Amino acid sequence: MGDAQLAVRARGLTKCFGDVVALDGVGLDLASGRIHGLAGPNGAGKTTLLGLLLGLAVADGGELEVLGRPVGRALAGPRQVAGFVDGPGLYPSLTARKNLAALAALHGRDPRAGRIDEVLAEVGLTDVADDRVRGFSLGMRQRLGLAVALLTEPRLLVLDEPSNGLDPAGKQHVHGALRRLAEDGVTVVLSSHRMDDLEALCSDVTILAAGRVRFSGPLEKLAADSPEVDYRLLTSDPQAALTVAAEVAGVRIVTGAAARRGAGALVVRASAPTVEQLVGTLVHAGVGVREVAPVVPPLEAAFLALTDQQQEGER
Ligand SMILES: Nc1ncnc2c1ncn2[C@@H]1O[C@H](COP(=O)(O)OP(=O)(O)O)[C@@H](O)[C@H]1O
Ligand SMILES: [Mg+2]
Repeated sequence: MGDAQLAVRARGLTKCFGDVVALDGVGLDLASGRIHGLAGPNGAGKTTLLGLLLGLAVADGGELEVLGRPVGRALAGPRQVAGFVDGPGLYPSLTARKNLAALAALHGRDPRAGRIDEVLAEVGLTDVADDRVRGFSLGMRQRLGLAVALLTEPRLLVLDEPSNGLDPAGKQHVHGALRRLAEDGVTVVLSSHRMDDLEALCSDVTILAAGRVRFSGPLEKLAADSPEVDYRLLTSDPQAALTVAAEVAGVRIVTGAAARRGAGALVVRASAPTVEQLVGTLVHAGVGVREVAPVVPPLEAAFLALTDQQQEGER
């Protein structure tokens, strides 16, 4: 029997498709009652991993425990894991409301009166409850898929790229619904190829690249472990700033051409403590610092570095 505090525990998890190694010895501990983000570039293995959590596929090797039990072993009572990969399975010719009723029946559920209206409101689809799903946008389908999952009252909710196609209002509904679930102790695991999506919602993040875990832990730790980042500095005297920056140990000048001409921003690459030191040195030298901002947000930079992708603008 596994650790009850862990919603997901994986050791050496491997999954191949022919010659392609989609998951290559994945080890993972995901704590219960939190919102976990799964990040990685296209082809990293996110969908494959989520499919294993949902029991849609079987691993080729390793161990996987979900909600304290090895996957595949039938759980007594109602399904405790819900979600979808590659978009929710819906009936296009039925309305949103009828989809919920039909899918509840499929999962052997008889939702209490009013529950369907509740989940429609949760995901912001009340106004289109009686419209056929055929005419729904991708974002509306994603939200209906979430509503279907909510109906089953899972302890673990698994969502593959749930932000795809969501407009800002749709995103607010989805984020709100997921936060309320986590407050109620439900564990959420969701994937995205965009770090900014996960940053807004997740307490913990796992970064996958080429089927391997590159980082797994709290978001703050990812930011703190972040490598050197490019910062853009706006100063009162770009030329003087360039001269000062060139003399601070650990600072690399990335673009100073405009600064050299006495105009524009100075871009330097440095660790966070070094940039703090640079600002102090500039101010001490009488150069006013108007703005210091990372060119790429630090979490995004960490993600790009861990997944062997280049920062934009880097040669
Ligand atoms: N059903 C499949 N048949 C063959 N190859 C697959 C299949 N599913 C995934 N793959 C391959 O496994 C790797 C990981 O895919 P996937 O898990 O979909 O990545 P992600 O969701 O991170 O984009 C990719 O190289 C992909 O082409
Ligand atoms: Mg995918």
